[in-house]
Amino acid sequence: MTPTGETEQLALLLSLQRELALETDIDVVLRRIADAATTLLGAERATVYVVDHERGEVWSRVLTESELREIRLPLDGRGIASDVARNGGVLRIDDPYGDPRFDASVDARTGYRTRSMLVAPIDARDRSRLGVLQAVNKIGDERFTAADESLLRSLAGSAGIALEYVALNAQLALERLRVVKVTEETRHRLARDLHDGVAQTLANAAISIEIVQREARTDVPAAMADLDRLRERLIEAQKGLRDILFALRPVALTEDGLSAAVRALAERMDGTNGSRVFARTVTSSTRLGPEVEAGAFTVLREAANNAVKTGRAPNVALDVTDDAGGIVGLVEDDGNGFDVAATLGSYAGRGSLGLLQMREAARLIGAQLSIDSSPGNGTRVRLRVPRAV
Ligand SMILES: Nc1ncnc2c1ncn2[C@@H]1O[C@H](COP(=O)(O)OP(=O)(O)O)[C@@H](O)[C@H]1O
Ligand SMILES: [Mg+2]
Repeated sequence: MTPTGETEQLALLLSLQRELALETDIDVVLRRIADAATTLLGAERATVYVVDHERGEVWSRVLTESELREIRLPLDGRGIASDVARNGGVLRIDDPYGDPRFDASVDARTGYRTRSMLVAPIDARDRSRLGVLQAVNKIGDERFTAADESLLRSLAGSAGIALEYVALNAQLALERLRVVKVTEETRHRLARDLHDGVAQTLANAAISIEIVQREARTDVPAAMADLDRLRERLIEAQKGLRDILFALRPVALTEDGLSAAVRALAERMDGTNGSRVFARTVTSSTRLGPEVEAGAFTVLREAANNAVKTGRAPNVALDVTDDAGGIVGLVEDDGNGFDVAATLGSYAGRGSLGLLQMREAARLIGAQLSIDSSPGNGTRVRLRVPRAV
C-alpha cells in the first residue's frame, strides 16, 4: 500500500492538489486528505479534527474508518488531538499508552488498539488553529518516520486551505444575512413613515373635504378657513413625501456626489423642529463608487435626522472634506447629547435601529464611524470613507 519511492509520493501529492483545486465539497476534500494521509504514510487510519472554538471542542469531521462515529473531545481535556489543537507542533508518538497525554477511553469504547500516532495541527494563514490531522498505527508495526512527519505537515497545509475556505463561506453567508436585514429594516421604516405621514393625511383629507362640503352650504367663511388648513396639511404631506423620495433616491448624490447631496440635505432639513441645519465645510469633490456614496449618505442623513429629531439641536453643521486617503463626513450638533455606550447596549429591547444601521452601513462600505456624545455636550458623528476599497 505504501508508496515507497519519493517520486511516487510526490506524484500522489500533486494529483491530490489538483483534485483539491477542482473540488468544492469540503467534506470530499477533507476525505481525500485523510485518505492521502493513510496511503502516503502507510497508516491504518486518519482523522481530520476540526476545532469548534465556540463549544471549546475538537470534533472529527472526517474519519477513514466508517464504523467509527463522530468523536468530540474537549479542547482543554486529555487526548493527543486536544493537545495538538491547543499547543500546535507535530507529535510523533510510538508508545501512546506510555504517554500521559494519551486518552485511552476512545480505544476502550471502540475496541481498537492505538500503537503509534502522528498528529499535526491544521492552521489558517493567520496562524489561527482550525483543526488537527491525525494518522494512527503505522502499518506493519513500524514507527512513523521523520519523512512521514513532513508529509503530514504538507497535508495539514492543504487541509488548512480547505477549512479556511469553509470559514470564509460561512462568513459570507452571515454577511448576506446582515445585508438582507438592513434592507428589510429600511423597508419597514419606509412603510411606517408613509403610513404615519402621507397615508394618514390623505385619509383625513378625504373626510375633511366631505365635512367642508356640508359646511359650505351654511357657513362659507368657516368652510374657506377649513380649506386653508387642509391645504396646509396637504403641503406638509407633500413635503414629507418628497423627503421620503429624497431619502430613497437623492438625485444630487448620483449626479454630483456626496458634497452636492449633503448640501441638498442641509437645505431640505433646515428649519425642521426649529433647528438650523447648514453645510459648513463641504469641499470634497471626490467621487466614489455609487454604492459607497449611497452608504455614506445614508449614515450622514441618519445622523442629521437624529440631531434634529432626538437631539433637538439649535445648530447642526455638516462637513464633507477630503483627507489623504478618502472622504470625511462630519455631522456636529449642539443638542441634548446622549450616552452612546448605554444606547448601543440597550438595543435588544428597543424598536428603532438607527444607530445600528449607521454602523452597519459604514461597515458595509469599509468606512470608519465614530460617534462622540455625552448628555449636555452635543454630538459629533464622524465617518471616514477610504477612497479605494
Ligand atoms: N444627535 C443626537 N443627539 C441626542 N441624542 C441622540 C442623537 N443621536 C441619537 N441619539 C439618542 O440615541 C437614540 C437612538 O437613536 P436611533 O438609533 O437613531 O433611534 P431613534 O432615532 O429612532 O430613536 C435616540 O433615541 C436618542 O436618544
Ligand atoms: Mg434615529
